[in-house]
Amino acid sequence: MTQFSTNSIHGGDHLKTHSDVITPIHITTTYSYSSNPDELVPGGLTDPKTLIYSRENHPNAAQIEAIVESLVGYPTVVYNSGLSAFNALMTHVNPKTLAIGDGYHGCQGIADIWKRNFGLKQIHILSDDEKEWQGVKEGDLVHLETPLNPYGTYYDITEFAQKAHARGAVLSVDATFAPPPLLDPFQFGADIVMHSATKFFGGHSDLLAGLLIVKTPEIKNKLLLDRLVLGSNIANLESALLVRSLRTFELRVARQAKSAATIVAFLSRHQDAFPVLERIHHGSLQDDEFIKAQYPNGHTPVFSIELTSADKAKSLPSKLRLFHHATSLGGAESLIEWRAMSDDHISKKLLRISVGLEDPRDLLEDLVTGLSQNSDIADLTSEIHKLSV
Ligand SMILES: Cc1ncc(COP(=O)(O)O)c(C=O)c1O
Repeated sequence: MTQFSTNSIHGGDHLKTHSDVITPIHITTTYSYSSNPDELVPGGLTDPKTLIYSRENHPNAAQIEAIVESLVGYPTVVYNSGLSAFNALMTHVNPKTLAIGDGYHGCQGIADIWKRNFGLKQIHILSDDEKEWQGVKEGDLVHLETPLNPYGTYYDITEFAQKAHARGAVLSVDATFAPPPLLDPFQFGADIVMHSATKFFGGHSDLLAGLLIVKTPEIKNKLLLDRLVLGSNIANLESALLVRSLRTFELRVARQAKSAATIVAFLSRHQDAFPVLERIHHGSLQDDEFIKAQYPNGHTPVFSIELTSADKAKSLPSKLRLFHHATSLGGAESLIEWRAMSDDHISKKLLRISVGLEDPRDLLEDLVTGLSQNSDIADLTSEIHKLSV
């Protein structure tokens, strides 16, 4: 059996129909039917594997699914965004009650549309009110986001799997912040795993995509049939970009994870040197028992900091040279976001940081300079230069 990084390059080779080393981009939206009248079977549209129309399927999307399947070992369906994947998840499970947390506001937005249109009941996933949990029944959905956006906080998947399964509900895990090989939610009881592939799978801030990873080919086929009529398949050109990205997947994620842990450890060790820095949020700072087993290959490359005031948080990005002040995460370039810009539920003192592929010493020096507010940082800078990365 070949290993992760080999699969990320060769996992779709068996689907290639040309000698191109890189799969060509099939820009066609429609495919010719057989020229043999005997092979023309009415209703072929319901077979998700037949190439008929690119809203249904196309070779570039199939390539992505094959590669991701070779990485995670489970049937995978690709979508045109992370939120399309969440909408597909909701459509497939069709819960009457949804347990969902604070996490990414877009998923909550979809849940609210379901509440408005179909009377979906919601409970907070962290609720310890047994009465509320009694409302979660067979066929309902418990949707856990871990690590949690924007903090990078970890939750114990096993605990929520037990909660969901004791009630006959499905556990889905949005693991966008900890892509493979950092976290495998299936090992801890997840039934469906979701990713915004716009982030680490894409890795270059130049495509939108989403993934649902499921346990059986039967569920995948149902999702493909839904995707056909929901019109949420990924486009051809984006697919080619995503296949390009997957070729460097492990290298990127491993480096970003290591750099983030280095930066967080340094800031945390020297927090006293930055009076403006009130709090650092990151899974690497938690000491819960479950973390070693759930994150054997490193920590999420995303963390958050809270400063002592909203004004200070708002102005920090403009003091940095190497971090773009922008939303999103997972790309080669580091980003910092005053999170209130895109999520008004989040503290105005909070900045979310996505660590990219730059040298972590340069990133640290930039952050330390921005946080130091003109105090002398010569000692800190010399320690940064001695870090082994
Ligand atoms: C945790 C999480 N889930 C889902 C999404 C939505 O993904 P997309 O922007 O690809 O629709 C995001 C986007 O930031 C996210 O951070």
